[in-house]
Amino acid sequence: MSSESNKLLCAILSALLIYLLASFLSEILYNKDKKKNIKLSYSIEETEDKYNDTDQVKADSEEKKITALEINQLLEQADLEKGKSFVNKNCASCHDFNMPIKNKIGPSLANIYNRKIGSLSGYKYSKTLINMDKEWDTANLYYFLEKPKEWAVGTKMSYRGISNSTKLIDTIKYLRENSLKNEN
Ligand code: HEC
Repeated sequence: MSSESNKLLCAILSALLIYLLASFLSEILYNKDKKKNIKLSYSIEETEDKYNDTDQVKADSEEKKITALEINQLLEQADLEKGKSFVNKNCASCHDFNMPIKNKIGPSLANIYNRKIGSLSGYKYSKTLINMDKEWDTANLYYFLEKPKEWAVGTKMSYRGISNSTKLIDTIKYLRENSLKNEN
């Protein structure tokens, strides 16, 4: 093979190599961009989905919130004695339940039913309870005792709440009956 044709072959091979290299590089760059785009649109969709989900959960939990009527219906069947022993075990370390009114770490609950929230003179309540312009009816007792720190944000009652709804209803029955008994 002459040196001339050697040179020609060399030039062709070089050109081929450069072409391959260039297309290889552009492939990499192009794919990178493609990946970026895929990721971007995917994550936008993802956040949208998340927002939709939380809205859905919120709407669901609001729908499922027990009503005052339902609470009062459940109270008819509630077990007073079970409520009393639950209260003695879980509340009596901080609350007193007998007349005359005596406050402990927490305010007396002797006449709690229909008493204005945060209103017992001689007890130092949190601002949260003082500023609540409501009474302790059965529904408010339910919502508070289910999740004290959620229903009364900032309360100083360090009790985590009664998650078992049967026990919660029994407790409210005892609070109400004991209160009515003490007022008479
Ligand atoms: C660790 C002590 C502690 C325990 C246990 C506890 N409480 Fe309380 N409770 C408090 C304190 C302190 C307050 C005052 C909260 C405030 O001012 O924010 C309070 C406030 C209350 C109030 C509002 C009273 C008012 O005058 O407005 C009710 C009702 C109540 N508790 C019910 C219960 C019941 C029922 C239980 C048991 C299931 C219970 N608590 C368990 C400490 C406790």
